[in-house]
Amino acid sequence: MADILKNKKILLIIGGGIAAYKCLDLIRRLKDRGVEIKAILTRGGEQFVTPLSISSLTENKVYQELFSLTDEAEMGHIRLSRENDLILVAPATADLMAKMATGIADNLATTTLLATNKPVMVAPTMNSEMWGNPATQNNLNVLKNRDVAIIPPADGNLACGEVGTGRLAEVDDIISHIEAFFLSITNNPLNGKKIIVTAGPTHETIDPVRYIANRSSGKQGYAIAESLRMKGADVILVSGPTNLKTPNGVDRRNVISAQEMMEETKRTLPADAVICVAAVADWRVKEPKTQKIKKQNSAIPRLEFTENPDILKTVSTDKKRRPSLVIGFAAETENVTEYAKDKLARKGCDWIIANDISGDVMGGDENKVYLITNTGIESWPSMSKSRVADNIAQKIEAYFKEHQ
Ligand code: CTP
Repeated sequence: MADILKNKKILLIIGGGIAAYKCLDLIRRLKDRGVEIKAILTRGGEQFVTPLSISSLTENKVYQELFSLTDEAEMGHIRLSRENDLILVAPATADLMAKMATGIADNLATTTLLATNKPVMVAPTMNSEMWGNPATQNNLNVLKNRDVAIIPPADGNLACGEVGTGRLAEVDDIISHIEAFFLSITNNPLNGKKIIVTAGPTHETIDPVRYIANRSSGKQGYAIAESLRMKGADVILVSGPTNLKTPNGVDRRNVISAQEMMEETKRTLPADAVICVAAVADWRVKEPKTQKIKKQNSAIPRLEFTENPDILKTVSTDKKRRPSLVIGFAAETENVTEYAKDKLARKGCDWIIANDISGDVMGGDENKVYLITNTGIESWPSMSKSRVADNIAQKIEAYFKEHQ
């Protein structure tokens, strides 16, 4: 995943917004990933960041003037517009987007954008009223219809003191869009494959203030979602309650109970693969109370349980919409591979990742797993959950390569 940006050439056009300062970090982070960056700094952009800082970070000349003899002699604007794999406009102001939409070419940035035959990506930033103005929205649609990729602005505090939509997307988010773009044009078997990952614990209600849960942190499921996303898959993460950050580019759907997880998973089918990593509660309270159970006026409560739907089994045995690859997890404290082989057969899935949770696995960062399929058992050495995730993603990639 880390290599997808290596040796890519990006032309960064820096518009005149206060968020131009984020470009400095963006450039540094892209350089770390092996990107070669050239930059055009607009007159507006120059009010917020200096040519010297941009040039120091890109380790390249910064281009500014359309009619500059030295700029043109060194690299004409036509060459500048063609010799890159991607043109990224960040920050893109309302003015710059309007000029792009109407084809105005009155400076080096707009002329280059009009002259290019390369993909263009735009990260807008502006006051929320300017963003919501029909003129801007119209320009946005024009650009989208011309296949300009948009990195949507975020919500929050704006430099003008107002609150709303218009903040430049965070650097992480911009990089994730760039990675997704390059992944989408590379020949990866997971490109565009829709993969559902369930993760985290479920909470089963006892009364409005109490619930039954388990020790799952969600780390392994989130790591798998991230590794698959990095390989170009469209990942939907159906997540029980966790404190984890959503991996970039992953579509996260929050659920609380096992029943909700089942419903959301069914709603999201069909998919190419489903990976059930969640530690779903096997049982729920049969009749959760709608009012808090009071200590004073009741005897020690007795909870009656009923069985929760088995998501893995339901997906595996779905006659019409069974994904071509269904993977389950088995958390075991003893007889790990024996129980896991049995689970593979009982649940009807294709692979089981069995983890030995006799140590500090639940909530910890390390995992010792076995991959169990109908053809055999692989024992993997103990490793970090993110390494386990990368290995699983590689196996899934190999599977889809074979079953294109
Ligand atoms: N799973 C599920 N829905 C459930 C229960 C489990 O999707 N209601 C999935 C988990 O996400 C995991 C696998 O099934 O992929 C784990 O199975 P588990 O419930 O641990 O196995 P059991 O059949 O309950 O066997 P045991 O309790 O004996 O371990």
